[in-house]
Amino acid sequence: MKILVTGGTGYIGSHTVVELQNKGFEVVIVDNLSNSSAEIVDHIEEITGVRPVLEVFDLVDREKTADFFKRHHDIAGLIHFAAFKAVGESVEKPLKYYRNNLVALMNILESMRENKIKNIVFSSSCTVYGQPDELPVSENAPIKKAESPYGNTKQISEEIMQDTIKTADIHGIALRYFNPIGAHPSALIGELPIGVPNNLVPFITQTAIGLRDQLSVFGNDYPTPDGTPIRDYIHVVDLAKAHVVAIDRMVNQKMKKDFEVFNLGTGNGYSVLEVIKAFEKVSGLKLNYKIVGRREGDVIQVWADPGYSNKELGWKAELGLEEMVDSAWKWEQAYRGKTVKP
Ligand code: UD1
Repeated sequence: MKILVTGGTGYIGSHTVVELQNKGFEVVIVDNLSNSSAEIVDHIEEITGVRPVLEVFDLVDREKTADFFKRHHDIAGLIHFAAFKAVGESVEKPLKYYRNNLVALMNILESMRENKIKNIVFSSSCTVYGQPDELPVSENAPIKKAESPYGNTKQISEEIMQDTIKTADIHGIALRYFNPIGAHPSALIGELPIGVPNNLVPFITQTAIGLRDQLSVFGNDYPTPDGTPIRDYIHVVDLAKAHVVAIDRMVNQKMKKDFEVFNLGTGNGYSVLEVIKAFEKVSGLKLNYKIVGRREGDVIQVWADPGYSNKELGWKAELGLEEMVDSAWKWEQAYRGKTVKP
């Protein structure tokens, strides 16, 4: 069974391609390589023994997208990861984000309709909940006004999907990710931010390997037990496996509604300082960090109620925080070709 993975050379995409291939799916990747490299396909082949097809073009291009779908009208479903995701950049360049993230989705949905392709899994985010009024946050929690154009593209994308699904023979699942971190146990694929990382764990591992002088901890005066913000970190391999389950659910017609939403989190919240401590424990290193002022737009605390996903998908995140930071650290060292001893 053939599955299209857009953004399949990216961080979450590449891990998902591995899990799909491990389950015997045939994968075609479409990626414009704007934030990843074609070599990832070699690494996926090394892990799984199977080389996925990679087509390099931009899904914002309507004609190229239409042409691709005509040639691949036999795909059973697709997982749409291809999108920009830097929150700060989206504030600086909103139109870049709206055009890329929304036009690509619309082109895909139009092509799905034209080619009678029924199933789409969409990469959404817990950012749609903002700072939830109740914790843990379930799928029924209200959608809050987006804090950034990036977050807004996730909200609007879910709406575009819902409206389209009402009028076409298309089924959709939006997966709302909490904070994906970690890397494949082979250390052959992982998170590879271009330039200075925005996210916590790549900044920690780059500091430990010597690429950055110091990690800035953005605020320790939040109303949390240790004063630093709390997130629901989830291992990228657990997250990738949930996509395979979602695809299975669609192609085997087990959906309860034409558009479904699932939280992908562990249900456990950890503070920034707890993540740093876990890193120091698994690496044996002392991390150079400093408490600085708050980062604009950060929510205080958010963690998932994964109950509905656990029950409906029969999926559960299995890996703990130490496994997450340990795999991220092994990946960083493997990628840089450098071992850092305590
Ligand atoms: C951010 C986005 C989220 C997006 C996700 C994926 C915001 C408000 N949210 O999640 O919408 O889906 O990235 O890219 O930007 N931290 C530090 N020092 C650092 C980096 C982070 O202290 O150098 C702290 C942050 O303040 C936060 C935690 O670490 O408390 C996690 O930050 P990060 O990894 O950037 O993820 P989010 O902000 O939760």
